[in-house]
Amino acid sequence: MDKILVHGGHKLNGTIRISGSKNSALPILAAALLTKEPVTIHHVPDLSDIHYMLQILASLGCEVERASGTVTIRAEKIITEAPYEIVRKMRASVCVLGPLLGREKEATVSLPGGCVIGDRPIDLHLKGFQALGAAHRIDAGNVKVFAGELKGGVVNLRGKFGPTVLGTDNVMMAAVLADGVTVIESAAAEPEVVDLANFLNAMGAKIEGAGTRRIIIEGVKELHGAEHEVIPDRIEAGTYLVAGAIAGEKVTLKRVRPEHLEAVTEQLRSAGYQIETSDSSMTIHGNGEPKSLQITTEPYPGFPTDMQAQMCALLAKNSGISVVTDTIFPQRFMHVSELKRMGADIELNNGTAIVKGVERLGGAPVMASDLRASAALVLAGLHADGVTEVNRVYHIDRGYELIDDKLNQLGAHIERVKVKG
Ligand code: EPZ
Repeated sequence: MDKILVHGGHKLNGTIRISGSKNSALPILAAALLTKEPVTIHHVPDLSDIHYMLQILASLGCEVERASGTVTIRAEKIITEAPYEIVRKMRASVCVLGPLLGREKEATVSLPGGCVIGDRPIDLHLKGFQALGAAHRIDAGNVKVFAGELKGGVVNLRGKFGPTVLGTDNVMMAAVLADGVTVIESAAAEPEVVDLANFLNAMGAKIEGAGTRRIIIEGVKELHGAEHEVIPDRIEAGTYLVAGAIAGEKVTLKRVRPEHLEAVTEQLRSAGYQIETSDSSMTIHGNGEPKSLQITTEPYPGFPTDMQAQMCALLAKNSGISVVTDTIFPQRFMHVSELKRMGADIELNNGTAIVKGVERLGGAPVMASDLRASAALVLAGLHADGVTEVNRVYHIDRGYELIDDKLNQLGAHIERVKVKG
């Protein structure tokens, strides 16, 4: 388990390239199960979550080839049960349910456990499958979904916490080969859902409305192979914008889609940072401490929950009081106790963090937990005095390609230390 040592106080300048989106690549790789023909996906990021997904696909019988950022998958003969051993490492594995059900009319995957950001139910996924005529049963920690045939249906996927991203993906992938038309109401509209729909349409599916709350899928007989380029990772981009706000003089991001992170850009501009955008790049100018903000996370196009921790790291050091509320994962504040070890003054109250900015943060040994909380600790280390030691860095490697190299390229001083055991 490596650890990362962040030496605070170094200014960031320069340009980095944003990787392909993890949350787009994962369902798109799973969608390869929907055809016997080979599919080729470009700009697949080199992350442990992606490795897990490729292992799952291989264990289902797929031929998988990877050459740097390009992955080719051929799902000629497949089985329909994903192994617990791998699935337990990544709850997003649940997105193989939809394509397996769509193609083979059955699928068995271990129930995603909870995780540090909160309970991760799949009741909405199952509600969607049910609308297509599938039944399910829970058996020894596995969920098995099955259907004699799949018929188009209407389903509203809104839950207590709003739409579901992977639930929308799963139902869309189960519906593309169903008989008839499926309508998903209250669909998730994230860019990653649109990217998946574009890939499915390139495979011969007939999907309209992706990116809106109503997606209409007209079932087809079969899908064919296709080639696709994954969109840039808007959360990685947002994370480096915050790094630029915290420690930047001038930081430029290349291969980014500014329209995918407008809510983040808006908040950073309200905090006083100048951000310039072109169609595929963004530049942020650091200019000292942020003004305080009121942030509430919402489904896309609102402020993303995946950027909440990073904003807490930015706001922890300033002269005002900010209020950060996560309506999607109200428990997603594992970063708060660690930021407090660095001197932050944050009070938690029912899914809301009251962040009282402090003069200075002090480097300290801190523990990574969920992927975004861990990135937030690295960001906090950039403007803390001394050295911040972030342990259990494997959490960060799940979602960030070479975060230490990319920040060092910009002028940070970050060391990765191999820890035995
Ligand atoms: C996706 O998770 C992302 N992961 C998450 O990013 C992201 O935080 C989340 O969407 C919300 O935007 C991937 O795309 C791989 P949800 P997902 O279903 O689809 C509740 C990261 O850091 N819910 O949109 O699993 C759920 O508990 C990760 O990259 C139900 O109640 O999230 C949550 O409160 C973390 N029933 C809310 O809905 C269900 O059946 C949104 O969850 C499904 C979800």
